[in-house]
Amino acid sequence: MLEPIKIKEDLFYVGVNDRTKELFENLWPLPKGVSYNSYLLKDEKTALFDTVDICYSDVFFQKLETALGGKDLDYVIINHMEPDHSGSLGLLRTRFPNVQIVGNKRTADMVEGFYGITENVKIIGDLEELPLGKHNLKFYLTPMVHWPETMMTYDMTDKIVFSGDAFGTFGTLDGGILDTQLHPERYYDEMIRYYSNVVGKFGSPVQKALEKLSNLEIKYICSTHGPIWTIPEQIQKVVSIYDKLSKYEGDEGVVIAYGSMYGHTEQMAESIAYELAQQGIKEVILHNVSKRSHSYIIRDIFKYKGLIVGSPTYNNRLYPDVEYLLSKIENRDMKNRYFGYFGSFTWAGNAVKRLAQFAEGTQFEVVGNAVEVKQSMSFEKYKDCLALGKAMSERLKQDR
Ligand code: FEO
Repeated sequence: MLEPIKIKEDLFYVGVNDRTKELFENLWPLPKGVSYNSYLLKDEKTALFDTVDICYSDVFFQKLETALGGKDLDYVIINHMEPDHSGSLGLLRTRFPNVQIVGNKRTADMVEGFYGITENVKIIGDLEELPLGKHNLKFYLTPMVHWPETMMTYDMTDKIVFSGDAFGTFGTLDGGILDTQLHPERYYDEMIRYYSNVVGKFGSPVQKALEKLSNLEIKYICSTHGPIWTIPEQIQKVVSIYDKLSKYEGDEGVVIAYGSMYGHTEQMAESIAYELAQQGIKEVILHNVSKRSHSYIIRDIFKYKGLIVGSPTYNNRLYPDVEYLLSKIENRDMKNRYFGYFGSFTWAGNAVKRLAQFAEGTQFEVVGNAVEVKQSMSFEKYKDCLALGKAMSERLKQDR
């Protein structure tokens, strides 16, 4: 018997942990799993905030029914329709036929498209309010954080933001669900990985959402993934993480992402990294694109201002995994990065040319001279790699 967890006298956590799924959205690795958070507010009227992935509906309904304690469910507020949250909506309507589904116009369209539900759907507008009794809810439409229908709901009485994906993290909730019950630092990197991979393309809508929330007094942030943020410093911290990431601001540091079949391109990466360290850059992260899930590389590219990409020529093009990584960077409209590049070839070079084309298509500032090696690294090319590392370090130091 799985019990709901009481957050405060009339607010219950009825979410679940997923320790089975390998890839979130079938794309992003989940070594520490993920939680799908759902909350029940019990007032004169009862309101559920989002549901959970359908694979976990049994556990979810068990918790929900226990938390309701015989009361009927009046509303389900849909802050986000992605099926990791709306997945149990069809079953919810079957179990609670009177429940009103609350969302905006775009939500209603998706509720019909995904679940064939058109009856008893309450469409609300931006800043509209819904009284539950003691609690008064207010809806804030925040499109594209992460889908067009996304919104946040603010409990004006207890100053709680039900934020959807925003401020969420990968990683299950192992016992503790509130930031007071765990070490929040454990989740920061997974928050950045969630943001950069899943929401990363939508920096400007995230900025608009933050602006919209900026005047609210917030005592709790109840996201759909990861811990509930309640400690004032933690609330400030997670909001500032989102602010920084959505402005594409990076810290001093360099990600060197490279492909290498037999180690020659890797030697170039090592030489550049060596010089960066010599020049006093302490955050230098080398990623072998064939070995490391791109999800982590993207996370680090969001964290640091410097990016250097290296690739051997493969079938007269870039190395496939480098090409794939670059498409992910482009797809996220990355900005504000210092960019360097290098490559190698055996009989016909094209990788460096293609990296130059990539650079032209971005809003990155190109730093240093690209280095291209034929077959294996000569002493001159080694020096050129050091020069590239030095140029990057000098550019970074200008911002100190
Ligand atoms: Fe957690 Fe956009 O879904």
